[in-house]
Amino acid sequence: MRSPRPARLAAVALLLAALAAAVGAPAAAAASRDGYGRTRRLRMRGKVVEMFYHAYDNYMAYAFPHDELKPLTKGFTDSLSELGNLNLEHLPQDYNGSALTLVESLSSLVVLGNLTEFDRGVSWLSENLTFDVDARVNLFECNIRLLGGLISAHILAKDYSSQNKDGVYQNQLLRLAENLGSRFLPAFETPTGLPYAWINLKYGVMENETTETSTSGCGSLILEMGALSRLTGDPRYEAAALRALRKLWSMRSSLNLVGSTLDVLSGNWIEYSSGIGAGVDSFYEYLIKAYVLFGSDEYWDMFHSAYLAVQKYFRHGPWYHEADIRTGEATHWQLTSLQAFWPGVQTLLGDVAAANLSHREFYNVWQRFGVLPERYLLDYGILHPTEKYYPLRPEFAESTFYLYQATKDPWYLEVGEAIIGSLNYYTKVEGGFASIRDVSTMNLEDHQHSFFLSETCKYLFLLYDDSFLRNKNYIFTTEGHPLPVMSTWHEKIPRLDVPTNWTVVKDGNQPIRASALSSKVCPETIFRQNVGSPWESACHIPDVFPSHRCRADDDCGIESVTCKRRTCSMAGYCGLWLAVY
Ligand SMILES: *[C@@H]1O[C@H](CO)[C@@H](O)[C@H](O)[C@H]1NC(C)=O
Ligand SMILES: *[C@@H]1O[C@H](CO)[C@@H](O)[C@H](O)[C@H]1NC(C)=O
Ligand SMILES: *[C@@H]1O[C@H](CO)[C@@H](O)[C@H](O)[C@H]1NC(C)=O
Ligand SMILES: *[C@@H]1O[C@H](CO)[C@@H](O)[C@H](O)[C@H]1NC(C)=O
Ligand SMILES: *[C@@H]1O[C@H](CO)[C@@H](O)[C@H](O)[C@H]1NC(C)=O
Ligand SMILES: *[C@@H]1O[C@H](CO)[C@@H](O)[C@H](O)[C@H]1NC(C)=O
Repeated sequence: MRSPRPARLAAVALLLAALAAAVGAPAAAAASRDGYGRTRRLRMRGKVVEMFYHAYDNYMAYAFPHDELKPLTKGFTDSLSELGNLNLEHLPQDYNGSALTLVESLSSLVVLGNLTEFDRGVSWLSENLTFDVDARVNLFECNIRLLGGLISAHILAKDYSSQNKDGVYQNQLLRLAENLGSRFLPAFETPTGLPYAWINLKYGVMENETTETSTSGCGSLILEMGALSRLTGDPRYEAAALRALRKLWSMRSSLNLVGSTLDVLSGNWIEYSSGIGAGVDSFYEYLIKAYVLFGSDEYWDMFHSAYLAVQKYFRHGPWYHEADIRTGEATHWQLTSLQAFWPGVQTLLGDVAAANLSHREFYNVWQRFGVLPERYLLDYGILHPTEKYYPLRPEFAESTFYLYQATKDPWYLEVGEAIIGSLNYYTKVEGGFASIRDVSTMNLEDHQHSFFLSETCKYLFLLYDDSFLRNKNYIFTTEGHPLPVMSTWHEKIPRLDVPTNWTVVKDGNQPIRASALSSKVCPETIFRQNVGSPWESACHIPDVFPSHRCRADDDCGIESVTCKRRTCSMAGYCGLWLAVY
């Protein structure tokens, strides 16, 4: 990317070319061209279909209408209020789920071509789903999973459902989406316009609610809320999300980098160390995707500056580390599973060579462990001592799909085979697909995340059968829900006159809390003794050391997840290595 104009044109051209590549190139023809046989393609397609239904049918049998399936015990969990809630605080007393996994499955059912089951789901939700529940939920999670799932399914119902032709479908899913979206609005009533991370669906923002949120939490709402405004004609959703995004961007450092956590009342950063993984990832993704979906130069300009800064300060060869956004100095040398989405974004943008390079490194790590560990310490070549899990995440499959669309290199189909092989070998159980608790032992956890159905299975399916993409261009939300790219959406510029009569329970004197991770666990006495000064998230050297390198063990304090004392390595990084390895 040398200058914005050509790159921008290239980006859109590539997107459209990539997503429309299959038009006029049926699977058989493509097969003879790329040297990956038709039979093999159909066999892999069949395996993914089997995986989806194994996950879906078990959810419907043992968990529906609760939120998610517990595949080991064939039970359920009403996990919507637990998403993003590390400490499991303020859990609802009287909440029986929102059929989360069904909502998340609808767009996948259309991609797989099962319109009968899609219609059945739409009818059930139309009649039975309500958001008038006393449950505190994470705005970001609720937005990408429920709102995104409903909006995408609404658009697909218009295009595909026989109920639409029969007049039975009367925009019920859009009404549900609008109802949910209106419950989000009180979260945005802050002096900065940055939304609270948590909202009670029935009562709005709780008294004494935490004012800390993450960059991805308040910077990746624009696709769903923008689409909701375009579909309903009510500008408030898009205006609120855009105002928050503009504020967030205004907080960037002089290097054009954004931090990872912040305070919504003051608009100040809490955590200055940041990268492209957890806490930030979809912020970048939504800038470029908002540009494609809504066509406004503003999104491109933000994305372009942000992308250059990421490549300049976070990239080290094919890897991405974290850095202090004020100095650009590296803080953590860690691979996180969430970062694997980045090659997909780069492919969308047209930076295919860079995407290919990183993707190959991720694949090496995948091959080494059988799946991608949540966090891997690049400077030591070992697993992070506490984040050894693999919760069926989609990001690596997603990037593989994008790279295959762009290059048609059959090698990516072989990567898909490895992913499918691992998922079936390590995570498939009689009652569904279970997350891996520890990739070094492959012990399982009793949880089938809804994104396994909305993303992991969908991207794997599209790798072998992209017929869904032949009629229209779609952009996928960060939860894998397709939204069509339409020229009519490029012509409207949103208004920003946000009404001020939203209801909100607020207390002006809320104390500013430190990072959620710092308060997470350690008994206060140990915490004070070891730390004394403000101390933030796991494996983080406090800002008083500008290099973010430690000098002695005492600089490192305690690890906030296990409360174990951390040690300072010879290279000046804090960690638990000596204690654990
Ligand atoms: C949840 O389920 C319990 C047990 O069936 C029932 O008593 C309660 O009324 C339900 N609550 C809601 C909000 O539907
Ligand atoms: C659609 O899904 C339902 C539920 O899993 C299944 O019974 C049915 O066979 C599927 N239909 C097709 C055409 O795959
Ligand atoms: C709504 O839920 C009830 C209870 O589960 C069920 O009997 C009914 O069929 C559902 N409505 C639709 C349209 O599926
Ligand atoms: C809110 O915080 C204040 C000050 O810490 C406290 O006095 C009050 O009881 C809290 N209110 C609730 C509902 O927790
Ligand atoms: C990706 O990298 C491999 C190995 O370096 C190379 O053979 C291949 O041509 C690359 N593909 C693209 C599209 O850059
Ligand atoms: C807010 O004000 C608008 C315009 O005056 C009105 O149409 C709307 O119903 C009000 N909303 C609420 C929640 O009071």
